[in-house]
Order: sequence, then structure tokens, then C-alpha cells
Amino acid sequence: MRIAVFAGDGIGPEVTEQAVRVLEALGLPGLELVAGDVGGAAYRKHGHPLPAATLETARSAGAILFGAVGDFTLDHLERALRPEQAILGLRKELGLFANLRPARVFQGLESLTTLRAEVAEKIDLLIVRELNGDVYFGEKGMRTLDDGRRQGWDMMSYAEDEVRRIAHVGFKAAMGRGKKLCSVDKANVLETSQLWRDVMIEVAAEYPEVELTHMYVDNAAMQLVKNPGAFDVIVTGNLFGDILSDQASMCVGSIGLLASASLAETSFGLYEPIHGSAPDIAGKGLANPMATILSAAMLLRHSFGLEDQAARIEAAVAAALADGIKGGDLGGSAGTREIGDAVLARL
Ligand code: NAI
Ligand code: MG
Repeated sequence: MRIAVFAGDGIGPEVTEQAVRVLEALGLPGLELVAGDVGGAAYRKHGHPLPAATLETARSAGAILFGAVGDFTLDHLERALRPEQAILGLRKELGLFANLRPARVFQGLESLTTLRAEVAEKIDLLIVRELNGDVYFGEKGMRTLDDGRRQGWDMMSYAEDEVRRIAHVGFKAAMGRGKKLCSVDKANVLETSQLWRDVMIEVAAEYPEVELTHMYVDNAAMQLVKNPGAFDVIVTGNLFGDILSDQASMCVGSIGLLASASLAETSFGLYEPIHGSAPDIAGKGLANPMATILSAAMLLRHSFGLEDQAARIEAAVAAALADGIKGGDLGGSAGTREIGDAVLARL
């Protein structure tokens, strides 16, 4: 099994180093880790945030473990050369159309969320967001009307096959969890959502064990605050998913714990913490590597089918947190390497 490791900028290399230690400690047969340059680091070396060699490395691997990209000292560059283009380029080139973001409240961290403890402790959900379609990618424009007013527009659209493939990701994820899938749309006012709902119902026939429900997005936003413990897997479009996944992540309490996956139609995927390069703490050994370690667990689960090893990593992180090992982002004082050690000791 070949894994591409793209550490990137800022705290990226620090947090991926710890995740790599965890992967190596599992004793996976045939594990091969190949590094590649991305982001500002790649721009400095090769003049491009996503060099061709990096893309080639990605294509030769079964999955990518990604740190973070972003470097404000390169803000003067034209858009195509900015560090962030690395992640956008990888999504596009590798057909990564499904974004998965788990959110769960770990034992011992209930007090960090803004929710009441009895509400927070039940949170263990996964948001599956479509990444390549919707209003972000539809026809858009801006014009000045005859009376001088400006008008802007963005077309929201989904084709059946685009909805079908994200539906399968949602149902499969639900099969591996609590077998409950909530499809979020706005079918009372949007045609796009009516199609979305029809396709979800059609695909549900292939997953008779999964209980499919539908919820309007405004209600979903409310329920995520009121009763987030009721959700297992949520599947939704690009726009609604963008907003709901950020909302759900904050139920968890800290950015240093949130992992994500971006999946292709094959088993290929890119796995990264949701945080950025954190220039304010970069190079100081202060970053919490747990989000990246949890991303490595998702990588084993979704790209290599290694559910047991994934669960082992997640249990080790949970045990470290329960034992009070906390980074600065959680109000603790453990450093990057110390947290890595603590997780390794509990594997
Ligand atoms: P950020 O996520 O890098 O940092 C936000 C705050 O959270 C900072 O105070 C930081 O110190 C803290 N933080 C983040 N990760 C942490 C961790 N693991 N442990 C402890 N504290 C942590 O977001 P920000 O500051 O808005 O962006 C910094 C750079 O990262 C920008 O250039 C941005 O474009 C880029 N970025 C890249 C992403 C990616 O690679 N996918 C995602 C988000 C931002
Ligand atoms: Mg967002």
C-alpha cells in the first residue's frame, strides 16, 4: 500500500510527522510512504504550488495524507500560483467529489463546546458533502440593468448522475456506521433539491438496511444545535454542506481535532485536517496533530478498507484525550510530539 504524504506549509510538516509515526507503528504490510511538495513550500522549490512531479506521485499512490497549505508571505502572487491552489488543483485533477467530515465530542472535552454537556456528549455524526457541483460551479454573471441597478446571478444545478454518485457515498458511509442517513435539501422551494430528493429515494432501494430521512436545510441547521446527537450521517449538496459542516465542526470544541476526507469515485482519496497552516504557531512544536492522526485513520478506512486499524487509531486518540493529554487548542499544555507519543503509547 502506497501513501503519498504532502506535508505543505506552516504546521503541516509538524502534524503530518506525527501521523506518519502512527501509521508506521501499525506494522501494515507493504506500507510505502512517498513524500511530495505542495503549497508555498513547493512554490519556493519549483515555482509552482502543485508541481507535475507531485501530481504524478499522487497518481501513483492509493491515497494522499495532506497537511496544510497557506503562506501569507506569498499573498502577492497571482491566484494560480498561491499555495491554496495545491488543494484545489488536486481536487480537480483527481476527481475528488465527495467531502467527508466526521464530528464527535470526545469524552473529557464536553466542556469545550458551546452546547450543554448532555447535548454535546451524544454528538457523533458524519457530514458527506458534494464538492464539484451546485451553485458554486453553475453559470454566473454580473450586469447593469437599464435603470442602472447592478444584478448578479449564480445558477444552482445538479445532474442526476452527480447526485447519484454522492448518494452512494452517503449510503455506504451509513452502512459502516449507524445505518441512518439524513438527506438535507430545500425541496419545498428548489427544483435542484426536488431532483436531489428523487435520486436519494431511488438509490435507497439498493441499501435496504439504511434508514433514509429527508430534512430541509433550515431545519437541519436548527437540529444541529438543538439535538445533534440524533444524526448519524448527513448527505447534502455543496452549498448546504459548506455551511453545515463548519457549523457541526464547532459543536466539537476545537479545530485541532477535526479530520476530513475528499474521495474520488474509486477508492482513492485525500485526507487532511480541516485546519490550515496556522502561521501563528508554526515551527514551535505547539500544534495539535490529532486532526491529522484522525485523518490517517480515515485514510485506512476509506481507501484501504482497514476498518480495524482505523478504529485502533481513533481509540488511541480518544484514550489520550480521556487521560487528559491536551494541546493548547484544548486549553492544555501538551506539545506536538508529546501528543504523538501519547497516541502511540495507546495504540
Ligand atoms: P488556521 O486553521 O490555519 O488557524 C486558525 C487558528 O487555529 C489559529 O489561531 C491557529 O493557531 C489555530 N490552529 C489551527 N490548527 C491548529 C492545531 N492543529 N493545533 C492548535 N491550534 C491550531 O486558519 P487561518 O489562520 O485562517 O489560515 C492560515 C492559512 O492556512 C491561510 O493561508 C489559509 O489560506 C490556509 N488554510 C489552508 C487550508 C488547507 O490546507 N486545506 C484550510 C484552511 C486554511
Ligand atoms: Mg467552509
